[in-house]
Amino acid sequence: MRKLVLAISALALAGSAAIADPIADRKALMKANGAAVGKIAPMVRGAQPFDAAVALDALKTLADDAAKMDPAVLWPAGSDKGDTKSSPKIWEDMAGFQAAIDKFKADTAAAVAAAPQDLDQLKATFGAVGQNCAACHQAYRL
Ligand code: HEC
Repeated sequence: MRKLVLAISALALAGSAAIADPIADRKALMKANGAAVGKIAPMVRGAQPFDAAVALDALKTLADDAAKMDPAVLWPAGSDKGDTKSSPKIWEDMAGFQAAIDKFKADTAAAVAAAPQDLDQLKATFGAVGQNCAACHQAYRL
């Protein structure tokens, strides 16, 4: 019996270790968003020369990140507590939050498909993508 109890608690421990930390995961994803924007923004500002390959690569990172933003995985119930700036509004208005994610997905996918070939195209494409960051942070980040 004791062995069985030990085996079960060992399993429970292994199980909880295998479960990812959604707060850390979503922060890591957002940091990757920030890094990708950090590659595009200097070009848009004129601080760095336009580079189509670097821009497309960063847009792809944003589209990949958007595709990974599954609220059931990254914002599950209960993950409003802890070292997080996610607003309680996310859980109060999950449909609205999902809609914001869907828009981010659509805009980043369109940006990748557009594959900007010069600075003006990049400015237009990136303008549409960047609005998503500010809009969602204003509504759903503390
Ligand atoms: C659909 C909503 C949504 C979109 C779109 C979004 N974010 Fe966020 N972002 C959040 C939320 C919510 C947090 C707070 C995460 C937490 O602390 O739990 C956050 C946090 C962050 C952080 C802080 C991460 C940390 O280490 O604490 C950065 C940086 C960030 N976002 C960058 C971006 C950038 C850049 C974009 C656009 C390219 C973007 N985000 C798009 C919702 C969004």
